Amino acid sequence: MDAKNTAKSAALAVGDKKLDMTVKDGTIGPSVVDIGKLYAQTGMFTYDPGFTSTASCESKITYIDGDEGVLLYRGYPIEQIAEHGDFLETCYLLLYGELPTAAQKADFDYRVNRHTMVHEQMHRFFQGFRRDAHPMAVMVGSVGALSAFYHDSTDISDPQQRMIASIRMIAKMPTLAAMAYKYSVGQPFVYPRNDLDLSSNFLRMCFAVPAEEYKVNPVLSRAMDRIFILHADHEQNASTSTVRLAGSSGANPFACIAAGIACLWGPAHGGANEAALKMLTEIGSVDKIPEYVKRAKDKNDPFRLMGFGHRVYKNYDPRAKIMQKTCHEVLTELGIKDDPLLDVAMELEKIALKDDYFVEKKLYPNIDFYSGITLKAMGFPTTMFTVLFALARTVGWIAQWKEMIEDPGQKIGRPRQLYTGSTRRDYLPISRRK
Ligand code: CMC
Repeated sequence: MDAKNTAKSAALAVGDKKLDMTVKDGTIGPSVVDIGKLYAQTGMFTYDPGFTSTASCESKITYIDGDEGVLLYRGYPIEQIAEHGDFLETCYLLLYGELPTAAQKADFDYRVNRHTMVHEQMHRFFQGFRRDAHPMAVMVGSVGALSAFYHDSTDISDPQQRMIASIRMIAKMPTLAAMAYKYSVGQPFVYPRNDLDLSSNFLRMCFAVPAEEYKVNPVLSRAMDRIFILHADHEQNASTSTVRLAGSSGANPFACIAAGIACLWGPAHGGANEAALKMLTEIGSVDKIPEYVKRAKDKNDPFRLMGFGHRVYKNYDPRAKIMQKTCHEVLTELGIKDDPLLDVAMELEKIALKDDYFVEKKLYPNIDFYSGITLKAMGFPTTMFTVLFALARTVGWIAQWKEMIEDPGQKIGRPRQLYTGSTRRDYLPISRRK
C-alpha cells in the first residue's frame, strides 16, 4: 500500500502568503505534512537540523514506535523473528518483503552460500593495511574496494546486477569482517565453509586456526545469529540515511555501503557498543557507579552514559530486552558467573532506571549496552563490535538502497541550508590584508 492523501490538510501562513499542504497517511505511525511546494510558494525552506521532525522518504521496510518500544520488520515484531527465525530468513524478509517458503529459503541460502568467498586478490589488498589499523578502517576500505573487484554488478539500472550485488554483499561481509579480525591478530585467513549456516561459518572464520579442529558451539552461534537479526535494520537512522543519500546520486552499491560503514563507526551510532564496554571497564566496580551517574547528569561535563538513550526509543528498546536474555544465555554457557563488568552493568541499569534524571528524559539502556558484554564474552575484542554491527546492518542498508533505486519518483538527495556566513564582499590581494 502506498501513502495516501488524507482528507486532512495543513495550512501555513508566512507573512501575507498562505500555503495549503496535503497531509499523507502511512499504514501506521505519524502522518506527514507534504511541504514539497513550500519553497516555490513562499521562498522559504524548513529548518530541522538532525531531522528530528522530518520524514526523508516513504518506506515499507521497517517500522519503529519509539514511545511504545515497538520494532517491526515488514510488519513482523522483532521479538517473534528473533525467537523463531534465523538471520538469512530475516535478510530474505527485508529484501523481498515476505517470509520465504521452505523452497525459497533453501534457494536463497544456497545463493548466499555460493558467494561467501572473496576475490583471492582481496587477500593481497588486505596486506596494504597496517596491522594495528582499526578493523572498521579496514572495513570502510575493503568494502569500498569491492566495487573494483566486481564490476559486473555495479550497473544500478540493471535489476539483475542489483540483486547479484545485494547477495554478494550479504555473503561477503562475514568473510571480510572475519578477515579484518584475523589480520589484526596476525593469524591466517580462514576460508568460508558453505556447509555451515552463516553465523557458525562466521564464528569459525574468526576463531578457527589451521593448527587444530574448531567445533562451533551452537549456543554461541545462535547468539551470534540473534545479534545479527536484532541489528539487521532500523529504518532511517544516520548510516541508512547516508547509504540512501550516497545512492541517490547513482553511486554503485559497494561504494554506498562503504559510506554507511563510515557513518556507523561514530560513537553516537554503531560505535556505542565499543564505547559502552570501555565505559563499564573505566567504571570498574559497583561502588564507583554513583560518581559516573553524577557526571552523566552534570550539564558542564561532556560525559554521557554510553549505551543509554536513543533518538527514537523513549521507552525500553525492544532489542535490548532480547539482547539481555541472549547475554545471560551466553554467560551461562561459558560459565561466566562473576564477571565484574556484568555486575557494573546490572547495577548501573538498576540505578539509571530509578534515577529522576534518566526517568524524566526517558533514557533507557539500548541494545549496545548488552551486546558489548555478550560479544566480549564470546571472545571478540572491543574494536570488532562495530564491525559486527556493520555486518548485520548491511542487509538493511541494501534493502533500503534497493527500495530507493526502485522508486520511480527517486531524486538525488539535496538538502538546503540557512546561510549565516559573510554577505558578499570583494577579494583583497594578499599584500593588502592585515
Ligand atoms: N547520558 C546522559 N545524558 C543523556 C544521555 C546519556 N547517554 N543521552 C541523552 N542524554 C540527555 C542529553 O544531555 C539531553 O539533555 P538536555 O535535554 O538536558 O539537554 C537529553 O538527554 C536528550 O538528549 P539528546 O542528545 O537531545 O538526544 P538525541 O536523541 O539527540 O541523542 C543519543 C540520542 C543516542 C545520541 C544519545 O542518547 C547518546 O549520546 N547516547 C549515548 C550513546 C549511545 O548509547 N548511542 C547508541 C544509540 S543506539 C544504537 C544505534 O542506533 O546506533
